Amino acid sequence: MSNLYVTFGKKIDTYTFVLPLKSKYYDLTNKIKNINDIRNNFDNVAVENNNMYFNVLRDNYIKQILENNLFGVRPPLVDNKNIIVEFSSPNIAKPFHIGHLRSTIIGNCIANLNSFLQNEVTKINYLGDWGTQFGYVYIGMKMKNIDNIEMYTDPIKTLYTSYVDANKLAESNPNIHEHAKEIFRQLEFEDNEVYKNWEKIKQFTVLELEKTYKRLSVIFDQYEWESMYTAKKVNKIINKMEEMQLLKLDNNNRKAIAVSEEKNVPIMKSDGTSLYISRDIAAAIDRFERHKFDTMYYIVENGQTDHFNNLIQILHKLNLSWADRLKHVKFGRVHGMSTRKGTAVFLEDILNKAKEIMKQRQLEAKSKSVLSVIINRT
Ligand code: ARG
Repeated sequence: MSNLYVTFGKKIDTYTFVLPLKSKYYDLTNKIKNINDIRNNFDNVAVENNNMYFNVLRDNYIKQILENNLFGVRPPLVDNKNIIVEFSSPNIAKPFHIGHLRSTIIGNCIANLNSFLQNEVTKINYLGDWGTQFGYVYIGMKMKNIDNIEMYTDPIKTLYTSYVDANKLAESNPNIHEHAKEIFRQLEFEDNEVYKNWEKIKQFTVLELEKTYKRLSVIFDQYEWESMYTAKKVNKIINKMEEMQLLKLDNNNRKAIAVSEEKNVPIMKSDGTSLYISRDIAAAIDRFERHKFDTMYYIVENGQTDHFNNLIQILHKLNLSWADRLKHVKFGRVHGMSTRKGTAVFLEDILNKAKEIMKQRQLEAKSKSVLSVIINRT
């Protein structure tokens, strides 16, 4: 490869290759008799001054490689299934971290495999935008006087810094936690200014996230929110559980459901606000009503295994015949990152850093290679 030079035109979709016909490793001078063969695969092929020149049209070339590789591989003839893949699912106002990156890549592969098998696939990104932590974000924003959301140029990081600042403050001031809970309570009941601002924050964050997904060529069919399942929605399900006599009050005055003799899972706090699990129960029921899925995959790290086991068990308790259609696809937890302490790494920064390092290496290398073209595209 050391003698293969690549240049690329202004239009980055076309790469021009220059291949010397002779080097100390090989001699193609007599082999290039019929350049028509080569013409079938490449564009603008020419042999001049002991060099062969040709263009590669990126999209055509990739298509050809993929189609050739697929030759002979056909999906088995099975009944088409209706599949939901929920993946990525970062929390808004917090950084998209490496754990979410893993979920994004694995989830996208699972979705692609299912599409290849001709299943009906819906890709859902379920954004975490609910819970007491958002009370903290609000307090942090007020501390810094960040009122005009329209002004944000970097919403995710701004919101994240607010969250970290409020947490720092809470270390020395115990009232902050109560205050954050109160703000979230107001959000749950959708009745004020705070809720209106929340809608704006969500919009900004999606725009920002989409930029990152674009770099990874990942496209979602639906963005859904934890805030779609507010206390009101969850209440209907809680009433049903009461009717079925599944609930009791735990030591903290939370409503809890017994999933086994030893295990109670709290699903509503004493102040009437919802919990992560209650929102997931409501979301699963809602999605089943909308999609009648055969399987719903949740691509989420190992650390949430108990959560998903509880979810499936609770759906069984509610006599929902489809409870076992939920599958938790796990992957190893990424250690050493804490959003609360502010040590999480942003995906955007990781991609930028990787790009920078690769570029640097390319510049240091003696000759340019195909890699440099790829790097310049990301
Ligand atoms: N937002 C969550 C987190 O970052 C992951 C959500 C996973 N999906 C779910 N349906 N609970 O930890």
